Amino acid sequence: MMAPPALDQGPAAPQPAIHPRWLRVTHWLNALAVVIMAMSGWRIYNAAPFFDFTFPNGITLGGWLGGALQWHFAGMWLLVANGLIYLALNAASGRLWRKFLPVSPGGVVRDLLAALRGRLSHADPRRYNQVQRLAYLFVMVDIAVLVLSGLVLWKSVQFGLLRDLMGGYEAARRVHFFAMALLAGFVAVHLAMVALVPRSLLTMIRGK
Ligand code: HEM
Repeated sequence: MMAPPALDQGPAAPQPAIHPRWLRVTHWLNALAVVIMAMSGWRIYNAAPFFDFTFPNGITLGGWLGGALQWHFAGMWLLVANGLIYLALNAASGRLWRKFLPVSPGGVVRDLLAALRGRLSHADPRRYNQVQRLAYLFVMVDIAVLVLSGLVLWKSVQFGLLRDLMGGYEAARRVHFFAMALLAGFVAVHLAMVALVPRSLLTMIRGK
């Protein structure tokens, strides 16, 4: 007897990309903008430091105060325009709530402990665990704080209300500095995590 013909189920439906193209483009533009902003910002800080240390000139951008300010302002437009596009597309597509919520203290502690014991599953690259969700939401808010405090430093008279809310010009300088330090801390941990799961880097480049 002949075996029944295999059912023809047609070609498999194409899977949507894990990271859509607009997300990959905005992610890498954001990374570029953050590096430009941080390196030129360190040079600007060096011209009038308020702690008793300065950043080694070798890791700064701009060559001198005037050059660093030009890099900082150029990078600012990229950071803000790209960041607004990222947030708008994330919100309009519903991805913001799907990918980053829910996030709860209990969930973060559970996933953190699982990660430290090496038991956090990476089986589904479409889902962020709760530690990732918190870290990514944190960095979005942190960059917003950097931009708002930067506006106060840039146009302190025009953004007078914002300046007063931050406790004055000098306080806004500290807010800007500490938000930068937190962003640098995020990037260090982010790079370490990417090194631990290199496949995620390919996904952020190719989409799948
Ligand atoms: C410099 C500043 C950076 C910031 C602020 C940043 C921020 C972020 C954020 C918010 C996400 C989540 C995006 C989303 O799903 O909407 C993300 C994902 C990711 N980033 Fe970055 N990033 C930076 C630099 C980098 C660099 C330099 C690399 C690689 C060398 C990198 C590799 C990745 C990868 C692989 C993912 C996906 C993680 C996963 O699927 O688990 N990022 N980043």
